[in-house]
Amino acid sequence: MNYCFIILNLLILSIHLSFADSQLINSDYQQFNSTSNSNVAVYWGQHSAAYSTDVYNNSIDTRSLSFYCSQQSIDIIILSFISNFPGTNYNPKIKLSSFEYSNTNDIRTCQQKFNKKILLSLGGEAGTYGFKDENESEEFGDILWKINKNKISSYQLQNKYPRPFGNVSIDGFDFDIENGQSTGYASLANSLRKNFKTSKKKYYLSAAPECPYPDNVLQELIEKTELDFIFIQFYNNIQNCNADTKKFNWDTWLEYAKTISPNKDVKLFLGLPASLDSASNGYINDYSLLYKVITDSQASEHFGGVMLWEASDGFMNHDMNKEPYINVVKSILDENFRMKRKLWAMQTEFIMDIRTINQPPVPNSALFKSRNIYNYITFYQNCLLVIFMYLFFCIGFSLL
Ligand SMILES: *[C@@H]1O[C@H](CO)[C@@H](O)[C@H](O)[C@H]1NC(C)=O
Ligand SMILES: *[C@@H]1O[C@H](CO)[C@@H](O)[C@H](O)[C@H]1NC(C)=O
Ligand SMILES: *[C@@H]1O[C@H](CO)[C@@H](O)[C@H](O)[C@H]1NC(C)=O
Ligand SMILES: *[C@@H]1O[C@H](CO)[C@@H](O)[C@H](O)[C@H]1NC(C)=O
Repeated sequence: MNYCFIILNLLILSIHLSFADSQLINSDYQQFNSTSNSNVAVYWGQHSAAYSTDVYNNSIDTRSLSFYCSQQSIDIIILSFISNFPGTNYNPKIKLSSFEYSNTNDIRTCQQKFNKKILLSLGGEAGTYGFKDENESEEFGDILWKINKNKISSYQLQNKYPRPFGNVSIDGFDFDIENGQSTGYASLANSLRKNFKTSKKKYYLSAAPECPYPDNVLQELIEKTELDFIFIQFYNNIQNCNADTKKFNWDTWLEYAKTISPNKDVKLFLGLPASLDSASNGYINDYSLLYKVITDSQASEHFGGVMLWEASDGFMNHDMNKEPYINVVKSILDENFRMKRKLWAMQTEFIMDIRTINQPPVPNSALFKSRNIYNYITFYQNCLLVIFMYLFFCIGFSLL
């Protein structure tokens, strides 16, 4: 009987441990791997799917940044945009949609709990930005760095769009320059790089050129500076280079990466629209084509993953299995992700046959639900195992 008493204590201890174990699964977020070829990067901040609802009639507008960060299908989130720079007295402004503006304070959670990289994008379609010369942009590089390190409060992005990050610092900067002015971006990038070197933390630089090569705005930047990621926009260029056309020019970019890029390890991302409405053309609705385009590019050196414009669209848009488009993309890229989502893996084994339909939005909490169910299963499995061992030992000892 004494033995049984000891074992009973062990049993209680084990239940505690198995509970702790099941908790761990919740924080099963992979470390970011910049050299991987299966990363998914999404732009976030313009809330393209505003006013949409999901299949449970939940508003997409209520989703915080941490909702997107909690998704295992996403690795990099690019906040968009700093749309006004250098600004009066070097006071740049960030312009996020009003929905998204209110919840950027999740950045710390994104970085620490979910292991995501958060970049901040300069530029965008609308805004007032550009430099008069290289001196101005170089100086702006120092200012941006100081803002990011939050060292000078007077440079807080102010008025309607104050710096919304509290005391966190982001993981790098992205250039999405769409206003035709190319002055100064190479010197800005070099200025940022110089500042990055003063920190122990790893920072990243990226650019989002459109697919025609050479890019008419960012060419100097991409030829003369070390960029970590190039998010090539294979959309809005149906006559030249979109991924779903015969003129798809991935190989041109690959050649750039191999022979021109100053960063020999530069990663190229296949940039695609996340829904039919995300761009005027380039959205790939057909899974077999999507599968082919992604896996063909993934086979090449320098492939870093897929970039999607943009996050809310990529979750509003889902297929008939209620799987968000972002998850479909990640599952094509990453076998581990596919295996983790076993049920869905069974459905997508026949990925070439699945027809997709554009229809109402994604199940809001389905992803969380499936993870919680998994936790319970693990918990009860462990309990059962412990009880079985308890019975086994007790019976064994009473026989002695
Ligand atoms: C990162 O990805 C590369 C390429 O897939 C792989 O070789 C490497 O082992 C990965 N690193 C880690 C820490 O997982
Ligand atoms: C969805 O919610 C809106 C507003 O709450 C309501 O008017 C509408 O009837 C709901 N639709 C469905 C299908 O439940
Ligand atoms: C840029 O800065 C350098 C050194 O600070 C200065 O000599 C040069 O005149 C400046 N150029 C312009 C266009 O302001
Ligand atoms: C940053 O802000 C958070 C929340 O406001 C606070 O808990 C934390 O202590 C701050 N960290 C530093 C280094 O100031």
